Amino acid sequence: MKRNTSFSLLFFLSLLFLIFFTFSVDARKTNIKKKLHKDGGNRHTRGKGSHPPSPLPRYESHPTQVNTFDIMSFGAKGNGVSDDSEALVAAWECACKISGATIKVPAKFKFLIKPITLQGPCMNDLTLQIDGIVLAPSEVSSWPKSSLFQWINFKWVQNFTIKGSGTVDGQGSNWWILSELYDMQKTHSEQIPSMKPTAIRFYSSNFVKVRDIKIINSPLCHLKFDNSKGIKVDNITIISPANSPNTDGIHLQNTQDVEIQHSHIGTGDDCVSIQTGCSNIHVHHIKCGPGHGISLGGLGKDKSVACVSDIIVEDISMKNTLYGARIKTWQGGIGMVKNVSFSRIKAYDVMFPIMIDQYYCDKQICKNQTGTVVISGVKFDQISGSYSVQPVHLACSNSIPCTDVDLTDIQLRPSLKYRGLQQAMCWNSYGKSQGQLVPSSIDYCLRSGGGLIKRIARSHDSVCYKFL
Ligand SMILES: *[C@@H]1O[C@H](CO)[C@@H](O)[C@H](O)[C@H]1NC(C)=O
Ligand SMILES: *[C@@H]1O[C@H](CO)[C@@H](O)[C@H](O)[C@H]1NC(C)=O
Ligand SMILES: *[C@@H]1O[C@H](CO)[C@@H](O)[C@H](O)[C@H]1NC(C)=O
Ligand SMILES: *[C@@H]1O[C@H](CO)[C@@H](O)[C@H](O)[C@H]1NC(C)=O
Repeated sequence: MKRNTSFSLLFFLSLLFLIFFTFSVDARKTNIKKKLHKDGGNRHTRGKGSHPPSPLPRYESHPTQVNTFDIMSFGAKGNGVSDDSEALVAAWECACKISGATIKVPAKFKFLIKPITLQGPCMNDLTLQIDGIVLAPSEVSSWPKSSLFQWINFKWVQNFTIKGSGTVDGQGSNWWILSELYDMQKTHSEQIPSMKPTAIRFYSSNFVKVRDIKIINSPLCHLKFDNSKGIKVDNITIISPANSPNTDGIHLQNTQDVEIQHSHIGTGDDCVSIQTGCSNIHVHHIKCGPGHGISLGGLGKDKSVACVSDIIVEDISMKNTLYGARIKTWQGGIGMVKNVSFSRIKAYDVMFPIMIDQYYCDKQICKNQTGTVVISGVKFDQISGSYSVQPVHLACSNSIPCTDVDLTDIQLRPSLKYRGLQQAMCWNSYGKSQGQLVPSSIDYCLRSGGGLIKRIARSHDSVCYKFL
């Protein structure tokens, strides 16, 4: 008897489900029809998305749209004037919950975005597809004082990709004008914010790809990775004018396992800046310039610990840059730079193509200090082209010399703009030179030997183990 009851109950439930299912399919069909009709009459509609704003369920009702979140459907206007930040954040929050989702920033529209944080953790393989133009507020006064550190902040994201044919424009010109005022008055007034924002920053994010997009005119750094690992940057363009101060292209800090390739970076500062806590960084096939070249550091400021290791920079063309391959450290720091190689670098009119500067100082005079970030194991290999001031400038620390510095196949000739020093200069630098060397002064620039110094240098490594 009991069995019979459960059987009829089951039958009844199945019937109920069937009725419900039929109704809901019908409802969905009607929905899609309505939607298609509406799309036809709306010139603002992009692709299969719809306008005005549609909540998430609309997408779920359309099989090809399940994983795509167009910010136009979240209320973005795309006119470059209205604030579209909330739409982007809302699209992010929905997409974040779905594996393999894509957030679309469609082409042909301009989106004004205020400083925002796009936060994870999200489901895997989230993509931000930027085909349109993303604009930062252009007025300095319209930036909230609490969000001066960066404009678009990605935090705790994993297995995330940014791609597309669009442009991220930091509209930094008003900030650059302020730069002189920053320098003049060390205390900031009400009108002058205490810092300038980085355009795109990743914080504590792993397995991130950034590809194809353009990032331009940042107030400060263009693309920064901080406390992250497993980063791939491919085929991007970063541009700001040569006279935009402190506008690094890509800035890495406490970040490991990075590949930066096939990109063009020309700004007012370093094309790529590698800071403390970075290791296993591979930078290759980059067109760099204008700017300050590719730099490790400045490291060890204010007696801080700096550890950088396992860096490969190769197949780079440098045009009209101040420096080419450079390592700069402040006096008085601690820690170590080791296992760095710069290879196949073509210099066109570079002031100092090869440089180690352990007396780095951003003022007229910095106090002499004992102690240094030790430098050991740096190869400069197949570096050719033209310089306008000095071909090789290695100014190593008075406290501990640089060791294992190799200069191999260096052929640098004065450019048409040459107005400097023909001689290679090496101070407190141990290592060997080999292969073709032009100018010939490179050949007797480095000191040989230094076995004891090498052992002393290596002992400075231990402070880094807990950091890397
Ligand atoms: C994230 O990407 C990395 C590298 O591609 C991969 O090894 C890892 O398994 C991915 N993580 C997840 C949770 O899929
Ligand atoms: C590089 O990016 C540009 C601009 O987005 C794109 O047109 C081109 O197809 C990309 N190239 C490759 C090899 O992906
Ligand atoms: C130097 O760094 C490269 C690149 O990260 C790495 O492959 C190599 O093993 C390192 N060499 C040493 C001696 O650590
Ligand atoms: C620092 O030391 C160098 C070399 O010994 C010397 O030429 C320079 O004048 C010193 N600078 C200061 C600020 O003491």
